[in-house]
Amino acid sequence: MGAALTAITNARVIPLVQSEDPYVAVETARALAEGGLTSIEVVLRTEAALACMEAILSALPELSIGAGTVLNKQQAEDVARRGAKFIVSPGLDEGVVACAKKHGLDVFPGVATAGEAQRAVNLGLKTVKFFPAALSGGPQMIKALASVFRDLEFMPTGGVSASNLADYLVLPSVIACGGSWLTPKKEIGAGNFEAIKRLAEEALAIVRAVSR
Ligand code: 3PG
Repeated sequence: MGAALTAITNARVIPLVQSEDPYVAVETARALAEGGLTSIEVVLRTEAALACMEAILSALPELSIGAGTVLNKQQAEDVARRGAKFIVSPGLDEGVVACAKKHGLDVFPGVATAGEAQRAVNLGLKTVKFFPAALSGGPQMIKALASVFRDLEFMPTGGVSASNLADYLVLPSVIACGGSWLTPKKEIGAGNFEAIKRLAEEALAIVRAVSR
């Protein structure tokens, strides 16, 4: 197991950071870390995403920082060269997987069907993102997939929130959940990083309650 996968497995919750501004991205990551979260996925959905990821990596080196919404091999190469610790994709792309492996990075491509899960297993993957989790059948679908892909582990994202986090985390095949509910645009726009910290604390309390 790579270091990033270990960090994610321990953290059990991976907040998404989407920002146009490296300073704001760092303050968001800092608030998440103050709330107790240790793995963060910076999504490539803004012009400044790579700069945001680099800024967090340099300001908060104790965190495990990965890149999300990595759609192709070139983006995988870009984030690997800039120090991403792991790569997440919404779907399963062999070029992304090969590039991550070449750089020795943990990679979590998205699957939502049995066919995609089977392709992932046959590519040698042990852990996949399950996306979009809520729309793809939620915890029941993960149970069904886990009953046949018995060694596959899942990281559900897409429609996960404090209200259903525990429903996913109680499943033995779920290592962690990801999502944007921890970084609402409204709070970040208002500079309310205290709210981000509180959301992280709330998620961590749910993680602790589930593992008790
Ligand atoms: C992702 O990239 O994993 C999703 O955008 C997360 O979905 P969410 O915004 O519903 O948490």
